Order: sequence, then C-alpha cells, then structure tokens
Amino acid sequence: MSLKFNLIAAACENMGIGYNNNLPWRLKTEMEYFTRMTTATQDPTKKNVVLMGRKTWDCIPHKYKPLANRINFVLSRNIMNLKLYKDTFHFKSLDEALAKLQDDLFKSQYEKIWVIGGSNIYKLTMDSKHFYRLYLTEIKKVYECDTFFPKIDNSLQEIKDPTVPNEEQEENGVKFQYKVYQNPQFDK
Ligand SMILES: NC(=O)c1ccc[n+]([C@@H]2O[C@H](COP(=O)([O-])OP(=O)(O)OC[C@H]3O[C@@H](n4cnc5c(N)ncnc54)[C@H](OP(=O)(O)O)[C@@H]3O)[C@@H](O)[C@H]2O)c1
Repeated sequence: MSLKFNLIAAACENMGIGYNNNLPWRLKTEMEYFTRMTTATQDPTKKNVVLMGRKTWDCIPHKYKPLANRINFVLSRNIMNLKLYKDTFHFKSLDEALAKLQDDLFKSQYEKIWVIGGSNIYKLTMDSKHFYRLYLTEIKKVYECDTFFPKIDNSLQEIKDPTVPNEEQEENGVKFQYKVYQNPQFDK
C-alpha cells in the first residue's frame, strides 16, 4: 500500500493554530480526540507514526514526551539528541523521514502516518504526493495567534470518516466541529 500522510490540526476562524509556542486555547475534548485519532490502530502489534516540526516537539510538555504509544518523528535541520526518548527519531529533511517510512523492516512496524504540525510541516506534507487527508478541527471563535495553518487547496473534498464524531462539539462555551478533507487524487 502506498504511503499516505494524514494531517491533523485544530484551527480557529482566522486559521490560527498557535500563539507563543503554545496552543491558543484549552480544549480538553479536542486534545482527547487528537490522542485517540493519532494512537488508534487496527493491528494491536503496530503503532502510528506522528511526524512533527522541532518547534511542535518543543511545545510538548516534558511529562508527555515522547507522545505515548506512537512513534515520534521530529524534523530539524540542527543536531538533536533524542536518544533518551523511546520510539523517537530525528530527521534533517522530509526525504530522510520518507526513506525511513519506506524502509522494509520499519514499514512492518507502523500503521498510519499522522502529521501533527506545525505550519511548515503541514505545508511541506500537503504539497507532497503522499498527502492523503486533512483532519481539521474547526474552532468557531477567533483567538490571537502568531502561527497559521497554510492555505488549503479548494480541490480538497469533504468526506465522512466513521471514527470521527459528526455532531458539533462544545466546551466551556467554545463550539467546534471535526471535519475531514481528502485529496481528490486518492479514491474515497
Ligand atoms: N493547532 C494545532 O493543531 C497545532 C499543531 C501543531 C503545532 N501547533 C502550534 O504551532 C506552533 C509551532 O509550529 P511552527 O509552525 O512554529 O513550527 P514547526 O513546524 O513545529 O517547527 C518548525 C521547525 O521544524 C524544522 N523544520 C521545518 N521544516 C523543515 C524541513 N523541511 N526539514 C527539516 N526541518 C524542518 C525547523 O527546525 P530547526 O529550527 O530546529 O531546524 C523549524 O524551525 C506552536 O504554537 C504550536 O503550539 C498547533
């Protein structure tokens, strides 16, 4: 089966995704959704890969690093020492990460690839032929942000994924909706 990037992001009405190296909001149910989606596998012997930029890695609180029960891939052009972390790899480019993902031995260990941000990494993977789906949480509020989700190509098609709740969510008065968009190059 060909390699597919599933992007997962939460953005507010101005397409902001981050502020001061953190999330602009605190939405516990949205965080739980992120954890469930990126962790769940059909084969219990396999894990999913979560691919992220160095700044997103830096944003993860120490006690949650590496993201549990997932294989963490971190992109940075600089030297990183991640040896202390279990199931965690550093790559200097997307091509280096792709080489690992296509390695025969490694391929048998993972199920899905989740791209978890930030802005640069979303853009890089949406521009790639491997871009498959965007799982976007649309937060119906404007927050002050300094990092934004890249422009979304309007050829993307909205689809339903049975594992994604259909109904609008609400937490502490903030409304949000889970949406799924698919690259039309792939069959539904
Ligand atoms: N709302 C959401 O869903 C969501 C998701 C993720 C993150 N965020 C937020 O977004 C912000 C962080 O995102 P960001 O866009 O600023 O940074 P980022 O994409 O997480 O990380 C950028 C870094 O990744 C490395 N990098 C980027 N492109 C690369 C490439 N082609 N090859 C190798 N390395 C590459 C570089 O690291 P070096 O500088 O080390 O070389 C670069 O500085 C935070 O505020 C975070 O909370 C929000």
